Amino acid sequence: MALFGNKGVHQWRGVIDEYRKWLPVSDATPVISLREGGTPLVHALYLSKLLGNEIWLKVEGTNPTGSFKDRGMTMAISKAAESGAKAVICASTGNTSASAAAYATKAGMKPVVLVPEGKIAMGKLAQAIAHGATLLQVKGNFDDCLTLARQLSDNYPVALVNSVNPYRIEGQKTAAFEVVDMLHEAPDIHVMPVGNAGNITAYWQGYQEYYKAKISKQLPMMWGFQAAGAAPIVKRKIIKNPETIATAIRIGNPASWDQAVIAQVASKGLIDSVTDKEILSAYRLVAAKEGIFVEPSSAAGLAGLIKKKAQRKLPKDKVIVITVTGNGLKDVQWVLNGAGKPIVIPVDLKRAAKVIGLK
Ligand code: F0G
Repeated sequence: MALFGNKGVHQWRGVIDEYRKWLPVSDATPVISLREGGTPLVHALYLSKLLGNEIWLKVEGTNPTGSFKDRGMTMAISKAAESGAKAVICASTGNTSASAAAYATKAGMKPVVLVPEGKIAMGKLAQAIAHGATLLQVKGNFDDCLTLARQLSDNYPVALVNSVNPYRIEGQKTAAFEVVDMLHEAPDIHVMPVGNAGNITAYWQGYQEYYKAKISKQLPMMWGFQAAGAAPIVKRKIIKNPETIATAIRIGNPASWDQAVIAQVASKGLIDSVTDKEILSAYRLVAAKEGIFVEPSSAAGLAGLIKKKAQRKLPKDKVIVITVTGNGLKDVQWVLNGAGKPIVIPVDLKRAAKVIGLK
């Protein structure tokens, strides 16, 4: 149906329409989009000086549901719609479920989400509920949720939209395209948090596709950082009871483990871990110095760079892109915890000026 209100004013069209020729879609694919992608790549002056490199932040928290997951979800839900699915399911530490709920609802499908009980941020829980998902809180961790979600989709008519669904990776690779389109070259290093390892897999795929098409002349080194208490790839073993305050990456047995190792090895990159303390300190720094509010997990990449610098293992004068994966508004507890006592005043000019320190 032609839209009466569409007067052709320029607006980013969403990743499927912007990158159609790079994606497995056809005219028969109904595009379910909330105009995800097209996110800001922000030069970070303070961090560049601090780290002795040219640092750019790919701010994925500006996606429609507040995380990078929307890039993959527009693909997964559009393909599910194409195949006639009536219901979709996912396991999640919160962001995937928020995104799946929004896109499934838009497509007229029933979203079902499985999350670890008591271990996801309130904002994300609220999103799944707001978008009408059937929300199951599982007495287990993310890895248990994923096992259950896989079994449900194997045995019942419900499509799995976790990043084991290849369309998710296809959609998420568009973030690498955007970086190259903007910088006119791939960065020297691309840094990001690693949880279920879908995103590092997707970026590596995107960078390789552009490189093979000669749109970029180089490939970046991929640097991924896990939380120390949930670092199976670093420790080379499944972590049965992963623990970290960075609940989005509290994962002990990542689904895309092998692909993440391939990206690391092929790009001559690294996958390392950062402590919760290092994550929280990077989380506060990027908000306080760069004006970008991210959720704690999203700060793992920056925390990793700061750690490498302290270890004298960070090169100099390179172009480095850090993906900050999710919006800080989803998980405000970590700011409020450290905020101290609120300042309460009467409606009084002199008192207000005094408290502020104005003379
Ligand atoms: N950052 C955020 C904010 C995330 O939500 C996730 C993953 C990651 C980083 C890690 O990305 O899994 O591709 O390595 N969140 C998933 C979820 C697991 O269910 O929302 P990954």
